[in-house]
Amino acid sequence: MLSLIPRPVSLVEKEGAFLLTRETAIAADSALEPVAGQLAETLGRATGFAFERKTASAANVISLQIDDTLLRDESYRFEVRDECVDLKSASAAGAFRGIQTLLQLLPPAVFSHGPRGNIEWRIPCVSIEDHPRFAWRGAMLDCARHFMPKAFVKKLIDLLALHKLNRFHWHLTDDQGWRIEIKKYPKLTGIGAWRRETMRGHFAANAGGDGIPHGGFYSQDDIREIVAFAAARHIEIVPEIDMPGHMQAAIAAYPELGCTGEKIEVNTGWGIHENILNANETTIAFMQNVLAEVMELFPGKFIHIGGDEAVKTQWNAHMQSRMRELGVRDADELQSWFIRRMGEFLASHNRRLVGWDEILEGGLAPGATVMSWRGSKGGIAAARAGHDVVMTPNTHTYFDYYQSREIENEPLAIGSFLPLEKAYDFEPIPSGFSADEAAHVLGIQGQLWTEYMPNPRHVEYMAFPRLCALGEVAWSEPEKNYADFCARLRRHLKRLDLLGVKYRPLD
Ligand code: ACM
Repeated sequence: MLSLIPRPVSLVEKEGAFLLTRETAIAADSALEPVAGQLAETLGRATGFAFERKTASAANVISLQIDDTLLRDESYRFEVRDECVDLKSASAAGAFRGIQTLLQLLPPAVFSHGPRGNIEWRIPCVSIEDHPRFAWRGAMLDCARHFMPKAFVKKLIDLLALHKLNRFHWHLTDDQGWRIEIKKYPKLTGIGAWRRETMRGHFAANAGGDGIPHGGFYSQDDIREIVAFAAARHIEIVPEIDMPGHMQAAIAAYPELGCTGEKIEVNTGWGIHENILNANETTIAFMQNVLAEVMELFPGKFIHIGGDEAVKTQWNAHMQSRMRELGVRDADELQSWFIRRMGEFLASHNRRLVGWDEILEGGLAPGATVMSWRGSKGGIAAARAGHDVVMTPNTHTYFDYYQSREIENEPLAIGSFLPLEKAYDFEPIPSGFSADEAAHVLGIQGQLWTEYMPNPRHVEYMAFPRLCALGEVAWSEPEKNYADFCARLRRHLKRLDLLGVKYRPLD
């Protein structure tokens, strides 16, 4: 039985198989040479074969060719015959996606780290036509609540690639830590990347701190390395600098950014906090200088500026005269003004602003893309107003929620209940959407908030297999068959075993 995840658009199984042998070669169009190199390296690791290059397709060759008749960037067409494998794609990205399918057609042992003997490297004869349903197929990792080592960020990016995801949303700053080196403002990491301790247990239990300092950050060299690593897998990184709330680590480093002038520390507890940036021109300039360095590091079109959970208490207390000066009526409008200033700045550098759905309150910045996290309401409103949206509803895509109702058998989580089946059953296009409105839904994304995920192993437990389901919702056609998905997933988990992923076992 084939067990492809995500399920391709069309798959026809045929008699026979292509066998990888020591003599199997790879032939690739020049534009696909980098992908051919990746394929040779991946196949070579498990098989121990060299996969020499040939210039033209012939017997016992895997051939990678550009096919201009394929219209979508990531689409591919795949023919496996007894004598050869033909992978045709519109682009290198399409070839890369097709190769994920090729790997999944091979025995799971192809995901082994070292050479494996005694395996028949058989690729069953098939004919596949495939393309993604959505252009934005993402996962977000919060590296602010708990710092995640660079090696793990790369491992996760590799796992996104395996599931044909193409966006890595990197949550880099929050109240509890600032994780990206900014040359102009060294205290952001010098002070902001470190907290004195971390709250123990669930925040509702109020159990005090653990007394253990926590921190870390990514240098600009680290970031360039990870951006290149993702690009080689045709994954775009969307960095997030969360503002004007969720900025306590920055305010701890530079108190002049805050509203009260008080010296505060990097936050040690979870929850929503009142400390917020002030709305002075100097602070706008500071944040735009930060974004300028961010844009230099991240070449992708989208820059995320957060915008969520900005508590307005301090603005109401300290920003009244600023609001009068700007002619804005209330704190919601001030937030809109703030976000608009960032949106204009990004647009002037040919980038697009993304924010959480709170950026709708007080009026949406022109051209802004909305991530609809508080259910689908925000996404519906934004799409109806002609804005692009990414569906990230907490109900279906918050993988920090519990995976079982028997929570005494689960590691501590933030709460709620989001089992695998619910992640799989998600339909991103709201019912009643016209074709025009649906066209504004760029795609979907799974969220890994790490308040209660102190280390990579724990992130893997929460992410998988729910991200496998999300990958299928994002890529495959909307028809659902959960039993069929689970049958494929059972075999797919063997691949994750070999990749050393500590997923949550199926019930
Ligand atoms: C969020 O969960 N605060 C976007």
